[in-house]
Amino acid sequence: MTTGKPRVLATRHFPTAVEARLAANFDAVLNPEDRIYDGTALIEAAKGCDAIMCAAGDALNAATVAGLPASVRMIATFSVGYEHVDVAAAAKRGIIVSNTPDVLTDATADIAMLCLLGAARRAHEGIDMLRTHSWTGWTPTQLMGVHVTGKRLGILGMGRIGQALAERARAFRMQIHYSNRSRLPADLERGAVFHAEPDAMLPHCDFLSINAPMTAATRKWVNAERIAKLPKGAIVVNTARGGVVDDEALIAALKGGHLAAAGIDVFDGEPRIHQGYYGLTNAFLLPHMGSATVETRNAMGFKALDNLEAFLLRKQAPPDLVKAS
Ligand code: DGY
Repeated sequence: MTTGKPRVLATRHFPTAVEARLAANFDAVLNPEDRIYDGTALIEAAKGCDAIMCAAGDALNAATVAGLPASVRMIATFSVGYEHVDVAAAAKRGIIVSNTPDVLTDATADIAMLCLLGAARRAHEGIDMLRTHSWTGWTPTQLMGVHVTGKRLGILGMGRIGQALAERARAFRMQIHYSNRSRLPADLERGAVFHAEPDAMLPHCDFLSINAPMTAATRKWVNAERIAKLPKGAIVVNTARGGVVDDEALIAALKGGHLAAAGIDVFDGEPRIHQGYYGLTNAFLLPHMGSATVETRNAMGFKALDNLEAFLLRKQAPPDLVKAS
């Protein structure tokens, strides 16, 4: 039965309030079992749809986008990162793409700070000690970690999330260094030290936080050569995209002792992460939880819907249009 409303395929099971609005305003094809569509299944499921509401990790690569039915005019991703959507391939097909910037800045910066602190203070070793009933009591030398206060934090990618992390780190009296495509104005920089050349920042990082998007230029940017430029005992934090890190190199540096620890929320090829991470006691690992608060996930969904409604219902440009680079 046709409702006369534009048909939107939801590739994932989204929060209840988001799906309720999707179903109220569109002919929604929901995915209550949250089954993961590969490219072929996605093309099949999109038959007769005007738009796709997708999420991080969906296989909207060039081949999938090329195979989408002609009815599809828009892809609205429930994420700020959009490396999973081939925007250039979409543009070729006349399909527009939108994302959800701004609304997940604070939640993601919180998780970056959690990864930083968790790695520095050996949180998961302490948790394991308790949960495995192996804590025999306080000792003067137990689980001594790395002090955070006053240390230098280098932020690669000083966009919204990088700036929100800097704001949090200042409360820990950390000294902020950053590298970004362009230098921030003084009111946003707030005394942080700018490094035009990202490699030049590395020797100044007691902590290095990756907050840059995944692009051809940042793929495996944190490699063995760059890790060697970090001071011995540095800590690497990644809450951006796993692909920015060369896993082999990071694991080798964590095993070899050049790095004291790492705090990681995102992984290359997740959820099938590099097996080497599992055995590392000095890696504080989370399963891509940066935006996982009720408030943030609702806000991401509503933003994706604002974009879909603007384009499909009001024939306007979506507010968060992603441009093919
Ligand atoms: C994003 O929006 O890019 C996040 O990684 C999803 O939490």
